[in-house]
Amino acid sequence: MEKQDKFYITTAIDYVNGAPHIGHAYEKILTDVIFRHFSQRVNDAYMLTGTDEHGIKIQKTSQSLNIEPKDFCDMNAQKFIDAWKLLDINYSQFIRTTQENHKKSVQNIFDKLLKQGDIYKNSYEGLYCAGCEAFLSEKDLDENGFCPIHKKKPEVVKEENYFFKLTKYKDRIINHIKQNPDFIVPDFRANEVLNQLENLEDISVSRAKSNVNWGIDVLSDPEQVIYVWIDALSNYITALGYDTKNNSEKFDKYWSADVQVIGKDILKFHSIYWSAILMALDLPLPKHILAHGWITIDETKMSKSLGNVVSPSSIMEAFKMDIPDALRYYMASAAPIGKDGNYSDNDFKEKVNAHLANSMGNLLNRTLSMLCKYFDGEIKDSFINAKAELFDKAKQTIDEVKHHFDYFEVAEASLKIIELVDVLNKYVTDSAPWTLAKEEKWDECGNVLYNVLEIMCVVSSLIYPYCPNIAKSMAKQLKYDINTKLDDINFKNIRSGKLISKEEIFPVFLRLDSELADKTKKN
Ligand code: MSP
Repeated sequence: MEKQDKFYITTAIDYVNGAPHIGHAYEKILTDVIFRHFSQRVNDAYMLTGTDEHGIKIQKTSQSLNIEPKDFCDMNAQKFIDAWKLLDINYSQFIRTTQENHKKSVQNIFDKLLKQGDIYKNSYEGLYCAGCEAFLSEKDLDENGFCPIHKKKPEVVKEENYFFKLTKYKDRIINHIKQNPDFIVPDFRANEVLNQLENLEDISVSRAKSNVNWGIDVLSDPEQVIYVWIDALSNYITALGYDTKNNSEKFDKYWSADVQVIGKDILKFHSIYWSAILMALDLPLPKHILAHGWITIDETKMSKSLGNVVSPSSIMEAFKMDIPDALRYYMASAAPIGKDGNYSDNDFKEKVNAHLANSMGNLLNRTLSMLCKYFDGEIKDSFINAKAELFDKAKQTIDEVKHHFDYFEVAEASLKIIELVDVLNKYVTDSAPWTLAKEEKWDECGNVLYNVLEIMCVVSSLIYPYCPNIAKSMAKQLKYDINTKLDDINFKNIRSGKLISKEEIFPVFLRLDSELADKTKKN
């Protein structure tokens, strides 16, 4: 990635017809980890997330519960806000599509596209899937005539609708994808999109109010509401204060997005519809669209009917976790980029116990304890002698982690960090500082501890995006500034003098209790 000063990252905005589950959480964690990593590299990183609150599903669900749709949205949007707080998702802004400023900007965007001829009115008969909030064509359906994602028969809808001239932008989008092979990440998904572009049709972007009323009114035609993708996709710019007439400073500063993180199921909407809307508005496209895979539970697709929908808070409760770091780490490393991942209680427990408790946490704890036991917590001048091999490995790891993040390979980067921790553990085992102490080789013993502690500062920086609380606890005991930018790590953090006293040492991560597994399933 080129050297730059700002980084703007977005997530998909979640539908609020239910509570957040681990699939939604996966995306927000992935995005937050990338965001936090780039915050360690640029001066100004900005992350947007939020909720998508209009549409027939919300209208119907709130009706069936006999609540006003806005009240229903308020109640459920709060569940997402609460869940992201629990997971320490450090977003800069949370947008709700029912916010007045968003609605106004969407109306203006629609109006502009209508006036310039990119939107036109036509009568239409089509198959509408409420799950997708989109019209499907016959060839999108499975052999039973059902939507392949939602397994439901789409509704036949006949209406006057406004249409967006998607076809006008087809060639430009194809060229853009071909000329920018890293536009769609991972690149194996680009072909899928190019195939979809082959059979492109204009898309309906409004619905008759008589059928759907929970949406944003078309300014010039009160009988129609703007339907949902123009409303939803525009959030990425309306949140920054985009308006068709005067742009805000914030918009000028952050747009275009450096990366837009979404699930593979909505790649078409982002790579094709969103690109076309931006082209019509004469705005630059995002640099990358990152389409992540889906999370299954015990290798099974999550679904309400199977009763296997797992929420992030239920996992935290079941394992009595007071910080989300383990879950963040596990989810962020659940799958190579773009591939599907899986959550299982046992795997979760085993992996985080092995990596975070046994390898990383114990290493710091043991090293600091030895420093206190043998040297009363003091680093002596004579200890400070860098072991080149280790320092080189740490420098190499920083570069490798940065390189992986340049390609949004979050899971791959985490493996490199654990590899560095393993190298340190092996170094401690091989050098056996406890034996050196017994033999009263004090400088040699102190030197081993010094080397480990200096490199642990690097580890705390690198693990920070995944495990911010653990990293802060590590840094606190190492007297290291966790806000150090990656390029400013100078390997001179452990200095001579008293580093720590016995009372100040605490474990940064406790093993997840084995008896607590299997309580995460909530219906
Ligand atoms: N509201 C639209 C997105 C509009 S973006 C302008 C939407 N909402 S959603 O609630 O259905 O999904 C939100 C995000 O969560 C999507 O990126 C989707 O891919 C992701 N996930 C939903 N279930 C998931 C899993 N089981 N696993 C991983 N991500 C999944 O689509």
